Amino acid sequence: MLEIKGLKAYYDEAEILRGVDINVGKGEAVAILGPNGAGKTTLLKAICGLVRCKGEITFDGRRINDLKTHERIRLGMAICPEGRRLFPNLTVEDNLLLAGDEELDTVYSLFPRLRERKKQLVKTMSGGEQQMVAIARALMRKPKLLMLDEPSTGLAPIVVEAIGSAISKIRDELRISILIVEQNIHLAFKVASRAYVLVKGEVVKEGRTSELRELEKEYFEM
Ligand SMILES: Nc1ncnc2c1ncn2[C@@H]1O[C@H](COP(=O)(O)OP(=O)(O)OP(=O)(O)O)[C@@H](O)[C@H]1O
Ligand SMILES: [Mg+2]
Repeated sequence: MLEIKGLKAYYDEAEILRGVDINVGKGEAVAILGPNGAGKTTLLKAICGLVRCKGEITFDGRRINDLKTHERIRLGMAICPEGRRLFPNLTVEDNLLLAGDEELDTVYSLFPRLRERKKQLVKTMSGGEQQMVAIARALMRKPKLLMLDEPSTGLAPIVVEAIGSAISKIRDELRISILIVEQNIHLAFKVASRAYVLVKGEVVKEGRTSELRELEKEYFEM
């Protein structure tokens, strides 16, 4: 679904990603772990065409390096960005409709709470509900690959659990490939079958999450 080879990304002259190789298979969920400033968000931006980069990015069998962001989105990738970026003064439903209207029933079935709250202004919703709106919005164009940037940020453990269950459903029932950036290793391991650890713009470790359990200790010591 997504193949990245030798990816380097730059802000001005600063090289933030230093030759990253990452794959996400069809229907697979993959996590990117790593400390603050490692380049995780930059990686997602590079995939979306929002930063200058070198290297190869292939999506759904097609080289996309030279495509603009909107063209990449049209091919079937969606991002749920860090900090959610919703329209706080609009209702839940208006936030969703800004992204499209065909998948409304699908996302309401996935998040029944959003159907109940569809007329509520987003700014009056809890952090967990807002995260649900952000994920739902990313699904409105029926993507083949959903990228999530730290969906657990600022949420209580029980809410993180609910978000994790929703992401697992998106993978299993909607059959959408997932690339999730997370510092919450429990959430990452719950939804992803493989993970990459990114440190200072390089992949320092990768493997199946079932075999990376010992990573937990190592990761928190970084
Ligand atoms: N727009 C920008 N201009 C210049 N430097 C940037 C820009 N955005 C990010 N950086 C730098 O790139 C590096 C990687 O940032 P990035 O946001 O990708 O890290 P991250 O792994 O997502 O961190 P976090 O876990 O805190 O979200 C950092 O050193 C950061 O200061
Ligand atoms: Mg980030």
